[in-house]
Amino acid sequence: MERSQILNYIDLNKDRFIEELFDLLRIPSVSADPAYQEDVQKCAEVVKQSLIAAGADFAEVNQTAGHPIVYAERIIDPNKPTVLVYGHYDVQPADPVDLWDSPPFEPVVKDGNIYARGSADDKGQVYMHVKAFEIMEKSGMLPCNIKFMIEGEEEVGSQNLAIFVKENKEKLKADVILVSDTSIIANDTPSITVGLRGLSYVEVEVSGPNKDLHSGVYGGAVANPVNVLCEMIASLKDENDHITIDGFYSDVAEVTMEERTEMAKAPFDIEDFKTGLGISETRSENGYSPMEGSSIRPTLDVNGIWGGYIGKGAKTVLPSKAFAKISMRLVPYQDPHKITALFEKHFLSIAPKSVNVKVTPHHGGDPIVIPTDFPGYIAASKAMEESFGKKPIPERGGGSIPIVALFEKELGLKSILMGFGLNSDDIHSPNEHYGVFNYLKGIETIPLFYKYFTEED
Ligand code: BES
Ligand code: MN
Ligand code: MN
Repeated sequence: MERSQILNYIDLNKDRFIEELFDLLRIPSVSADPAYQEDVQKCAEVVKQSLIAAGADFAEVNQTAGHPIVYAERIIDPNKPTVLVYGHYDVQPADPVDLWDSPPFEPVVKDGNIYARGSADDKGQVYMHVKAFEIMEKSGMLPCNIKFMIEGEEEVGSQNLAIFVKENKEKLKADVILVSDTSIIANDTPSITVGLRGLSYVEVEVSGPNKDLHSGVYGGAVANPVNVLCEMIASLKDENDHITIDGFYSDVAEVTMEERTEMAKAPFDIEDFKTGLGISETRSENGYSPMEGSSIRPTLDVNGIWGGYIGKGAKTVLPSKAFAKISMRLVPYQDPHKITALFEKHFLSIAPKSVNVKVTPHHGGDPIVIPTDFPGYIAASKAMEESFGKKPIPERGGGSIPIVALFEKELGLKSILMGFGLNSDDIHSPNEHYGVFNYLKGIETIPLFYKYFTEED
């Protein structure tokens, strides 16, 4: 399949490609909030229909104990290779909604960007694959078999997908997994993600007195759970921003100086980075750059903290309880279960006698590194080199897609993380957006991947 044919097809159909994506973006498929359950279901149906319309010869919506998984396939010849496309149609909650410049589920194009929750993460990127499939199918150029598995629970831990994968190994048989749910460095600097961090996520509860108290009558005599929680959290990192949990670093794979030097060559403008975020200084573990801190090193961050009076005005109260949600991003070869256990043991051990502490684990996921010397990676690299005019840089990402490690373990398949987003797309934030350039570039690049992947050498 020639690039000119692909470009021609895109040129004739790009307005429709954007309109169709808008239909998907209008469905608020928020997986975390039960209030949106019907919308999640509806979204799965729409994804399924779009795959049939693009040319799938089989498509289904699989119900699970949680949100459904869309599966579809087009088998042109069982003896030919098979690419399994993975993505997610669920989205993060849109909150805080008042900080959006336009409603999160009413997509608009502004200054070359599509604004909507899920535009970049991950509906826009999933839909590139649907449209690339349409192009290959309608022009009779699909060179191999294709399977789609698009889930509705990525943003809440993919637990039911893990079960589905274990129970459907035959159905999911493939040669490689292709995923677009990550970023490139810049629109003129393509990259392929070759590593993702793992995740351990816990919720902690610190309880003191059996009820909220008058902070004047009791303050100074009774430990304040909010104060104590803050002290405990502050002690989790030392003056070098090193995590103080015993054994936390024992399985961390140190990246060689050689690799770090190579990584540092990737373009990164620290001034732009700071200005874009409105911060005057970055902060990382001592001895590591911000880029390293957010990719090759593990971290610990409070994601939310609450307790006591947070309403209008001032209420004098010594709260009974305090809470926090804490995430630890992990790197190879840290094990999320082990890290969660270490956290729990440590956190309980630092609790003063004046309070009680409870730690509840949430979902987690394994970190992953992906080699650059297998046929799938090489094909993706060639495809991006042709469409961007520049060879993509292999880059480690800081986010997590826990199911990728499970694909390797259960299906024995490597994943190619060929995403087209930008780190500045504001995924999970207000005003999430996805460049029209990125959307169309993805649609252009994907058929080239199939071409190179099936090319005889
Ligand atoms: N697509 C992201 C992960 C991502 C984004 C990786 C950008 C690399 C670059 C994914 O949807 C996501 O948000 N994952 C969660 C995982 C969690 C909910 C288990 C994350 O990283 O917080
Ligand atoms: Mn995603
Ligand atoms: Mn996400």
